[in-house]
Amino acid sequence: MLEISNIDTYYGKAQALWDVSLSVDEGEIVALVGSNGAGKTTLLKTLSGVLRPASGTVTFLGQRIDGLAPHSIVEMGISHIPEGRRLFTQMSVGENLEMGAYVHAAWKRREETLDQVHEIFPVLKERQGQLASTLSGGEQQMVAMGRGLMSRPRLCLFDEPSYGLAPMLVTEIFRVIQDLRNQGMTVLLVEQNVRQSLEIADRACVLENGRIALAGECEALLEEELVKKAYLGL
Ligand SMILES: Nc1ncnc2c1ncn2[C@@H]1O[C@H](COP(=O)(O)OP(=O)(O)OP(=O)(O)O)[C@@H](O)[C@H]1O
Ligand SMILES: [Mg+2]
Repeated sequence: MLEISNIDTYYGKAQALWDVSLSVDEGEIVALVGSNGAGKTTLLKTLSGVLRPASGTVTFLGQRIDGLAPHSIVEMGISHIPEGRRLFTQMSVGENLEMGAYVHAAWKRREETLDQVHEIFPVLKERQGQLASTLSGGEQQMVAMGRGLMSRPRLCLFDEPSYGLAPMLVTEIFRVIQDLRNQGMTVLLVEQNVRQSLEIADRACVLENGRIALAGECEALLEEELVKKAYLGL
């Protein structure tokens, strides 16, 4: 479904990604792990069109998407749920969710999609009139995920969805991601919660200093010394 080939991405003159290649098949969860500053967010931004790669290609459903504007990439079916939620804090929960549906095909079906989002996160229905800035961290993450789903994506790019949440909520967020996959969603998941991500993902890759250091099936990666030492504290 998604094919990333030999991507180099820069911020001005500073290179952040070196020759990154990775593929995601339809229906898979692929986890992308790595320490702070490894380039995980940079890679997601390169996929969603916020950054343009200096070289390399990104293909989605057989079409080149590197160089397309972010809104065109959303239209094609990729939703980027950013690090740090990035909600419209002075808007209500309902308005935040609606903002996610400003895509041609999704706009017409926004009421039906909203019902689906409320089914996944019932608390968002109760809180629809509440200002986003007054929500708890966990509720804010639910709004960010719900807003991302409002564009009716086929591929979700989640950037650290469990960041800063209490353990019970972390488990809940991972459960939701698994449920989405079971309903046909494809997921590229950036997480620092390495063990839990490798447990729900099919494959994973480790990014180090802007380069892919390891990639493979999760079961095999859990046995790798690098993963055990650096990410699982074993
Ligand atoms: N807007 C920017 N301008 C310049 N350099 C940047 C910018 N954003 C990120 N970088 C640099 O690019 C590198 C990769 O950053 P990135 O945010 O992709 O890391 P990350 O793996 O997502 O880290 P974290 O786990 O802390 O979120 C870092 O060295 C960072 O300082
Ligand atoms: Mg990041």
